[in-house]
Amino acid sequence: MARVTLTQFLIEQQRSDQPIASNLRLLIEVVARAVKTISVHVGKGNIAGLLGNAGTDNVQGEAQKKLDVIANELLLQANEWGGHLAAMASEELEGPSLIPNRYPKGEYLLVFDPLDGSSNIDVNISVGTIFSVLRCPEGTRDVDDTAFLQPGRQQVAAGYAVYGPSTMLVLTVGAGTHGFTLDREFGAWVLTHPDIRIPESTKEFAINASRARFWEPPVQRYIGELQQGVEGPREQDFNMRWVASMVADVHRILARGGIFLYPLDDKNRRNGGHLRLMYEANPMAFIVEQAGGAASTGRQAILDVQPSGLHQRVPVVLGSRNEVERVVAYHAEADSK
Ligand code: F6P
Repeated sequence: MARVTLTQFLIEQQRSDQPIASNLRLLIEVVARAVKTISVHVGKGNIAGLLGNAGTDNVQGEAQKKLDVIANELLLQANEWGGHLAAMASEELEGPSLIPNRYPKGEYLLVFDPLDGSSNIDVNISVGTIFSVLRCPEGTRDVDDTAFLQPGRQQVAAGYAVYGPSTMLVLTVGAGTHGFTLDREFGAWVLTHPDIRIPESTKEFAINASRARFWEPPVQRYIGELQQGVEGPREQDFNMRWVASMVADVHRILARGGIFLYPLDDKNRRNGGHLRLMYEANPMAFIVEQAGGAASTGRQAILDVQPSGLHQRVPVVLGSRNEVERVVAYHAEADSK
């Protein structure tokens, strides 16, 4: 059977009844090419001396890994010259990265987490890259943070790569969620998971349970009920998984269903949550919604949150629709008391 590559898939999207602009296609292809290079570096690990800390901290005060720095540079360099972007923003940079004056500027903004789950790098567990594409507001002359502060609903594309046993790229341009596997011999992205659908119900949940004592009552209630299994109100057993790489946990949910929670708790409340809205929660929420799942803060659809800062954090509950709706209902019930 003929293999559909990412290029063919995107060209067919351009010809579809929900066509994408040619510069958006270029942007996605450039990101996908950079991701291939990141995948090679991740795969070499300590053969190339790439494990461990870079000796610097990022804007959030977290120690940067060598691969965080390399992945960030690769994405910035790959995307600065093509003429498709007005600016970029990254987890690793305090403010926007502007397009150098020697290159033409385009109509899109690219936001990314170059290497998500980087605490897993040194132990050879899956990590990933997450990205989100927004339109630069019309009439913007000098791009600053405010150009990026658009609700996730306005994303025109989002995707992630997971560097696991195989490297995959999962993508949405607002017409479903589609997965591509990197054929390492040919260097091609092959469409292997067209139109991914997240099962509405699930028996699997993902949460960092070591934080249980800090959770709010609705989360305590929800997880408590799952843990009671067949003897509890849900009358069935649930299984728990936690990779601690958001990409890997979300990827599992896209593949076989499940719910992922990084909720607001007493420890992360003053930061507004743990995960970053612009380059973690929003792209994942877009991907999950396009696959028929749901994504909420517990109190509001993630895609409707009006961002107030590039590195803003939010609570995240996403995955199988029925479970996410139950968690939202538990929050509403608790808040109405
Ligand atoms: O900061 C992002 C991240 O590494 C996610 O990829 C992951 O889901 C989460 O943080 C892990 O958090 P914790 O260290 O609490 O398990």
